[in-house]
Amino acid sequence: MAELAGVSVRTLHHYDEIGLARPSARTPAGYRAYSAGDVERLREVLAYRRLGFGLREIADLVDDASTDAVAHLHRLRGLLLEQRDRAAVTVAAIDKELEARAMGIWTTAEEQLRVFGAQLYESIGSAYPATRRTEPRIAARIWDALGDAGTVLNVGAGTGSYEPTDRDVTAVEPSAVMRAQRPPGAAPCVAASAESLPFADQSFDAAMAVSTLHHWPDPVAGLREMRRVARRVVVFTYDASSTGWRQRFWLTRDYLPEFAGLMSDWPSLSDLTHAIGGRAEPVLIPWDCADGFFEAHWRRPEAYLDEEVRRAVSVWTRVGPEAEQRAVDGLRDDLATGRWTERNRDLVALDAAELGLRLLVA
Ligand SMILES: C[S@@+](CC[C@H](N)C(=O)[O-])C[C@H]1O[C@@H](n2cnc3c(N)ncnc32)[C@H](O)[C@@H]1O
Repeated sequence: MAELAGVSVRTLHHYDEIGLARPSARTPAGYRAYSAGDVERLREVLAYRRLGFGLREIADLVDDASTDAVAHLHRLRGLLLEQRDRAAVTVAAIDKELEARAMGIWTTAEEQLRVFGAQLYESIGSAYPATRRTEPRIAARIWDALGDAGTVLNVGAGTGSYEPTDRDVTAVEPSAVMRAQRPPGAAPCVAASAESLPFADQSFDAAMAVSTLHHWPDPVAGLREMRRVARRVVVFTYDASSTGWRQRFWLTRDYLPEFAGLMSDWPSLSDLTHAIGGRAEPVLIPWDCADGFFEAHWRRPEAYLDEEVRRAVSVWTRVGPEAEQRAVDGLRDDLATGRWTERNRDLVALDAAELGLRLLVA
């Protein structure tokens, strides 16, 4: 069996000991005897292992009673295609960088990190559900914009926030870590990226994307894909090209100027609306916003001192630990001395703030 499976005898013994792939019988001489069903399970275990899953995660996946062998093959196929697509994107980005370097041009740190855009949530995704959830007032705007759509595609779906429960939803999410955290009963989720949606033209009444566009390596291509597969498109994102709100938001203005660098080559709002042939509507952030995205705590500054709040927002990982530490230390000092309150006195009277968030609708 070890020879057939291409693993060591020790590995098989270990999988047996921890109950991951246990042979159903022993020969009279005490050798492990694997039945056809045992072999099928071992194949699933090894396939997930090669995709980089941990043994505990694999146990959850293969023990999932709602998943039969065919469903496993579909899931593995999706994961492998995703891995292949990611490798292709990474190879293309490396080729571009090699070309640039050959001409004496050095890519910026942000450009280098972009290569790993889709992978970011594989490392930070497990911290997401702690503070990220549906904010009902923003959800109402999104669901209203979906109109009477009966079938909805949710792109960059993550753990399923903002998915309407009264419509037929299909989710798309490239990160296995995020997919694994979707609650039981959530809409079915396909492993794919926005830039290459595995659906026929016009197969959904509407496509939605929430707080995800800024992670896509090619946002315009992803928006065009949404437009291709759906008759209506609704995107909740922010106007990264405008400097106005960054100056208005005390966190980026006074503590984290590095934020501007993250979005330096981001398409303008009009490029984004043009890609879907639609319009942009401002979305104000309520002072007690339930979804802990980057700007959510604009009137609750102490929240940013909380590691759990920061870990659920990719910006903090992307600016790097030094900038993060400096920003947090500066904010902590200013809160202690009353400087923050002095500078931001006018915020206390506001119930909602315009900080560049936009709903793109087409
Ligand atoms: C901030 S989360 C938002 C998740 C969810 N829409 C929500 O509102 O909670 C961003 C998500 O975008 C996903 N993502 C990254 N690159 C993507 C791409 N190229 N296409 C689709 N989704 C992508 C990430 O894996 C992550 O789950």
